[in-house]
Amino acid sequence: MTTIGIIGAGEVGNHIARAAIASGYRVVIVNSRGTETLAKMIEELGPHAQAGTSAEAAAAGDIVVVAVPMKLINDMPEKELAGKVVIDTNNYMPWRDGQYPTIDRGEITEHEIRQAQLPASKIVKAFTHIQAPRILLWAKVSGSADRVALAASSNFPEAIKLVTNLYDQFGFDAVDNSPLSESWRTRPGQPAWRQERHTRAELEANLARAHRNTRR
Ligand SMILES: NC(=O)c1ccc[n+]([C@@H]2O[C@H](COP(=O)([O-])OP(=O)(O)OC[C@H]3O[C@@H](n4cnc5c(N)ncnc54)[C@H](OP(=O)(O)O)[C@@H]3O)[C@@H](O)[C@H]2O)c1
Repeated sequence: MTTIGIIGAGEVGNHIARAAIASGYRVVIVNSRGTETLAKMIEELGPHAQAGTSAEAAAAGDIVVVAVPMKLINDMPEKELAGKVVIDTNNYMPWRDGQYPTIDRGEITEHEIRQAQLPASKIVKAFTHIQAPRILLWAKVSGSADRVALAASSNFPEAIKLVTNLYDQFGFDAVDNSPLSESWRTRPGQPAWRQERHTRAELEANLARAHRNTRR
C-alpha cells in the first residue's frame, strides 16, 4: 500500500487524507499540537490513517503533502523529505503570511521559495485553487464531459506525472503549469484561482489570461 505523509491536518490536509484513503492509500497525518489532538480525526479516517510527527510523516510517505500556511513552513523535516515528491498546497496570502517583497516584485514565486528551503525534494504546487471540501464534492470519473481540471507546477517532470496520476485517482483532470516560476498563474486573485468548475480547456484559457499585477 502506498503511503502519503500529510503535514498539516487543517481543511486541506483533512480533505486530502479523505480522498487518499478513498483511493486506496494509507496516510500519516500531522498537526502542530501533537498526535493526541488528532485522535478524533484518526478515528473518523479509519484504520488506514495514523497520526505522527512531521519527521515520521515525511519518512513514511512515498509522497508527502505540505498543507501548512506559508509563514509556518520553515521547520519542515528536510532530511526525511530528501529525494521525495513534496506536494505544496500553499497559497500566498499576505494578510495572513506577511509580505514577501521578492514575491510581490515578481522576482520569485512562493513555491520556488519552498523549493529552495527543501533543495533535495521535488516540490510540486497542487490542490491550491480548489476549496478543500470540493476535493470530495467535485470528483468525477475520467472521461466525464464536465470533469474539473486542476493545475500542477513543478521543476520536475516526474512530480507532475505523479500529481497527474493522483488527480486522476481523486477524480480530476490535470493541467501542467510548469515550471515553478510560472506557478503565480494560479495565485489568489487570478482567473484560474476563482472558485469555479474549470474544465481542462477553461483552465488552460484562464492560465493564459493570468496577469502579473493582479492584486490580492
Ligand atoms: N482551506 C482551503 O480550502 C485551501 C484550499 C487550497 C489551498 N489552501 C492553502 O493550503 C494551506 C493550508 O490551508 P488550510 O486551510 O488547510 O490551513 P489550516 O486549516 O489553518 O490548517 C493548517 C494545519 O497546519 C498545521 N501546522 C501548522 N504548522 C505546522 C507545523 N510546523 N508542522 C505541522 N503542522 C503544522 C496546523 O496544525 P494545528 O491545527 O495544530 O495548528 C493545521 O493542522 C494554506 O496555505 C492555504 O492557503 C487552502
